[in-house]
Amino acid sequence: MRALVFASSNPGKIAELQALLGPQWQVKSAKDFPAVAEVDEDRDTFEGNAAKKAHAFAKATGLWALADDSGLVVDALGGRPGVYSARYAPTEPERIAKLLAELAGVPEVQRTARFKCVLCLAFPTGDERFTTGTCEGRIGLTARGTNGFGYDPVFELPHGKTMAELTRDEKSALSHRGHAFRAMLPVINALT
Ligand code: IMP
Repeated sequence: MRALVFASSNPGKIAELQALLGPQWQVKSAKDFPAVAEVDEDRDTFEGNAAKKAHAFAKATGLWALADDSGLVVDALGGRPGVYSARYAPTEPERIAKLLAELAGVPEVQRTARFKCVLCLAFPTGDERFTTGTCEGRIGLTARGTNGFGYDPVFELPHGKTMAELTRDEKSALSHRGHAFRAMLPVINALT
């Protein structure tokens, strides 16, 4: 069995990657390396933040290290909150309330948006590979559903359900993160 570290403490993300990679890989989490200092996500691109985290873990652990950065890109807001999605407002309910307030009066056809995820795989040698996943949808008029996290309750998919109305497996099959993970699988499985 070979090991890589996913630079995240989110058990949902670790489990999703482990399920995709199967038993020949052991996915370690940031929690397995408490001595590695928390990385400040201060870059102004998804790629920059993902690479910063991945390289910090590859350097500190000597393992292949994967990191993701993701966010919500809203067309009517010129792409905001984008890379600043986690810091758009202090709490999740406040972030959703601010988004709906900023989009008040914007008609449904102009409420198009997408989740974007960039994954970086960093090598202990300093080399790196990137994959990207996106998920297209629209910002609804109200929040619906209780699954998921973040902006899921206001992110409507083409079939009408919000991301928060999907099961975990349904979300993984179509989410930005699921797409970026699956695109990275051949890269990981070719590692020697
Ligand atoms: P992270 O890169 O996974 O930490 O995500 C950054 C921020 O983007 C989160 O705090 C959420 O606000 C938002 N976000 C990323 N992915 C999702 C998702 O799948 N659903 C809802 N919000 C998301």
